[in-house]
Amino acid sequence: MSRFTAAVGVFTALIYAVQLTPLVPLEDEYHFKTWMSQHSKDYDLTEYSYRLRIFTENKRTIDHHNAGDHSFKMGLSQFTDMTFGEFKKSYLLTEPQNCSATKGNHVVSSGPYPDSVDWRELGNFVTPVKNQGHCGSCWTFSTTGCLESVTAIARGKLLLLSEQQLVDCAQAFNNHGCNGGLPSQAFEYIRYNGGIMTEADYPYKGSDAPCQFVPGLEAAFVRDVINITSYDEKAMVDAVARLNPVSLGFEVTSDFMHYKEGVYTSSMCSNTTDTVNHAVLAVGYGVEEEGGAPYWIVKNSWGPSWGIDGYFLIERGRNMCGLAACSSYPLV
Ligand SMILES: *[C@@H]1O[C@H](CO)[C@@H](O)[C@H](O)[C@H]1NC(C)=O
Ligand SMILES: *[C@@H]1O[C@H](CO)[C@@H](O)[C@H](O)[C@H]1NC(C)=O
Ligand SMILES: *[C@@H]1O[C@H](CO)[C@@H](O)[C@H](O)[C@H]1NC(C)=O
Repeated sequence: MSRFTAAVGVFTALIYAVQLTPLVPLEDEYHFKTWMSQHSKDYDLTEYSYRLRIFTENKRTIDHHNAGDHSFKMGLSQFTDMTFGEFKKSYLLTEPQNCSATKGNHVVSSGPYPDSVDWRELGNFVTPVKNQGHCGSCWTFSTTGCLESVTAIARGKLLLLSEQQLVDCAQAFNNHGCNGGLPSQAFEYIRYNGGIMTEADYPYKGSDAPCQFVPGLEAAFVRDVINITSYDEKAMVDAVARLNPVSLGFEVTSDFMHYKEGVYTSSMCSNTTDTVNHAVLAVGYGVEEEGGAPYWIVKNSWGPSWGIDGYFLIERGRNMCGLAACSSYPLV
């Protein structure tokens, strides 16, 4: 070793010692700090070095994925400082949700269907992407998103509906607030409750609270609940093509947390009713221009900066990650 390399080595070691950050290259720390300011993150000293390490590992995963040949890209997001274990606890459904519909009541037409449909382009039918925060309430956003669209298509009026009412009041229908639930069960609750209030009248808190439903302030209603038979993805296409967006559940695995754009497909996730841990809203479908891969266009509830302006595309036609396991929509 030359005297020069030795000196550089000592210098580098000193920098690490001064920063009390174990072995994370300065470049990574620079990325981390930029990301921190973009996402308005703030940590104390211990938390800082812990999050820096996780961020750096996640960034390696992302860069490695993006260097390979995949149908979707990964990217940094508000979740890049979390392990998948932490992410799961804060944002996903942790228990199996009984989501199977063995005998669905959706009546399939004979088609034909357009090659692509996007309810965002067909009129003022889809509300802006919302953010569930640190609460396993995805099912409430899938529910309100679907009912908002179905109501707008039927009545010509796009309202924002209350997720918090579902978090607080829908327990009798097998839902568990921030610990999970299912859109089909939430539609049943709205049906038997006689309606749901607006977001403005019953604002989102992102934590469990006592039910504060006010009779007389219902803004949207459910006349009946349609469950699509489990694994009948063609029936989902039929429903989205002819009728309205459809609520669906699927299994989120660690690769999905870093999704940025492109058609998501995974060999990590399972495809059965008992592993579904996230609920979202299919607002359309299409076929990729290059390669011709069929996909769903899906509205998520992780805010507008995640994925493609809050949306993602996922492979269509082979029950990817169980997305055809438990889909449903309301009649209004
Ligand atoms: C699933 O259904 C069973 C029987 O109805 C019920 O006891 C259990 O709480 C349900 N699980 C969830 C997560 O809703
Ligand atoms: C649809 O699903 C809900 C919730 O699982 C269930 O209560 C309801 O009975 C189902 N409806 C039909 C017609 O199967
Ligand atoms: C799940 O995936 C396996 C393996 O690809 C396949 O054989 C099976 O039919 C799928 N099951 C469902 C319900 O989609």
